[in-house]
Amino acid sequence: MRKIGVLTSGGDAPGMNAAIRAVVRKAIYHDLEVYGIKNGYQGLIEGNIEKLEIGSVGDIIQRGGTMLRSARCEEFKTDEGQQKGIEQLKKHEIEGLIVIGGDGSFRGAQKLTEKGYPCIGVPGTIDNDINGTDFTIGFDTALNTIIEAIDKIRDTATSHERTYIIEVMGRDAGDLALWAGLADGAESILIPEKADDFDDVISRLKRGHERGKKHSIIILAEGVGSGFSYGQRIQEATNLETRVTVLGYIQRGGSPTASDRVLASRLGAKAVDLLLEGKAGRMVGIQNNKIVDHNITDILSKQHTINDDMYKLSKELSI
Ligand code: F6P
Repeated sequence: MRKIGVLTSGGDAPGMNAAIRAVVRKAIYHDLEVYGIKNGYQGLIEGNIEKLEIGSVGDIIQRGGTMLRSARCEEFKTDEGQQKGIEQLKKHEIEGLIVIGGDGSFRGAQKLTEKGYPCIGVPGTIDNDINGTDFTIGFDTALNTIIEAIDKIRDTATSHERTYIIEVMGRDAGDLALWAGLADGAESILIPEKADDFDDVISRLKRGHERGKKHSIIILAEGVGSGFSYGQRIQEATNLETRVTVLGYIQRGGSPTASDRVLASRLGAKAVDLLLEGKAGRMVGIQNNKIVDHNITDILSKQHTINDDMYKLSKELSI
């Protein structure tokens, strides 16, 4: 293999730049040429491709977002779109592709591999919803952003003795909400993986209030529904003054944490190793602090699950 490509796709995540840097530097270390594909699969279809050098990825390890930009591309879901992408790769004599993104991006990589074009996936999404890896790039940074925001909300919640519903991202996964809830001592954590027990939420609030608690924090994953409607239900059921904050896209930005930078560096480098070993259709990940790789099709066919012990613990600690 002489030339490889790298792209970022789907929702961006802090640490994607560190992963791009690792891919580029590791590839050049092994005397490969590396090409950056701009704007994800959309840029691939359009041939928006440029050669990356050692210096192209200087001063990006600490930056959020992705220097290659990202996009969600409907056309690439079609056979025609994938074919156009392969033609562009062949035109530039790129023999293997590293895709940094979430499960939607991996479906594209899976299709290209099925069509005979070798791809390796690197999990980059704040949602932490990919099987076969304990953590995805960006999750730790997003989590820390959420914690910082909740700590601030807590101050005003105490001053005004209010109940706060904080809606966090995660798409259909509850990891961000669960980890944030545990890290911030939330009264209740509502995630799509667990049935919403409204009575339990209400009785926790009432218990706390009777005990003289000055405020309450409830974390709701976006996959459960709207924070605003939930807040209204809570206010009606308890008569406690309730406010809602939807944290939104702030969760996707910012300088990556040390943990995300290290993870991204290790995963990006491993992806290059796999291409050099002649592997295709694999996803790299971290499990028990070991860098592993799995078949992308297997990963995509399994349902993401949350850590049940952590969920149980969050209930036990917020009695
Ligand atoms: O997958 C990352 C994520 O931020 C999800 O948490 C969220 O549901 C989604 O992307 C938002 O997507 P978009 O950027 O297309 O609005």
